[in-house]
Amino acid sequence: MTKIAVIAGSVRPGRFNIQPATWVYELAKKRDDIEVEFIDLQELDLPFYNEPKPAMMGDYEQEHTKAWAKTIGEKDGFIFVTPEYNHSYSPVLANAINYLNAEWNYKPVSFVSYGSQAGGARAVEHLRGIAGELRMFDLREQVLLPNYYFNLDEQGQFKFGEQEEKAANTLLDELTTWTAKLKVARES
Ligand SMILES: Cc1cc2nc3c(=O)[nH]c(=O)nc-3n(C[C@H](O)[C@H](O)[C@H](O)COP(=O)(O)O)c2cc1C
Repeated sequence: MTKIAVIAGSVRPGRFNIQPATWVYELAKKRDDIEVEFIDLQELDLPFYNEPKPAMMGDYEQEHTKAWAKTIGEKDGFIFVTPEYNHSYSPVLANAINYLNAEWNYKPVSFVSYGSQAGGARAVEHLRGIAGELRMFDLREQVLLPNYYFNLDEQGQFKFGEQEEKAANTLLDELTTWTAKLKVARES
């Protein structure tokens, strides 16, 4: 069984992030072809990058980095859930990514994003650049939630519909397929 992680990429009080992150996590959990873990960067609470050496050297000194490396090293694929901040990704997500290198290598990643008109598309385009440098395989399939704040109920909950669910399941189909194939490739 391959293992994926959904990474909730905003730590802001009152963040919307937890809604799409939980939603895609619950959809992923319904599948019997993957194990899925929810990683909340708010709970992880990593400091700003404070390793003496660059992550590509793989010589981690801090206990929080060693623990994070173990968590990510055990996974075979990822869903990054990101807001768009100033036409880019959330810094807390980039910080968590930057901490490691080999643990991300040759693993697929897809994205759920949200924001105003662009639905976080610009954040995801920038994350794709980071993924390339980390030898990750960024998948085309993604879920975008443009102007999400116009689609909240009275309790402030986003009304996920058929369209979003279809996009998420397509994302999960691709992610599970490539997660399994790349795991075999890495092991050989
Ligand atoms: C510093 C900052 C910059 C933002 N820049 C953008 C932006 O460039 N494009 C966009 O669509 N939304 C932008 N937003 C709106 C966020 O996408 C929106 O507030 C979202 O809810 C933030 O995610 P979060 O609630 O999970 O933290 C920005 C928000 C903040 C706080």
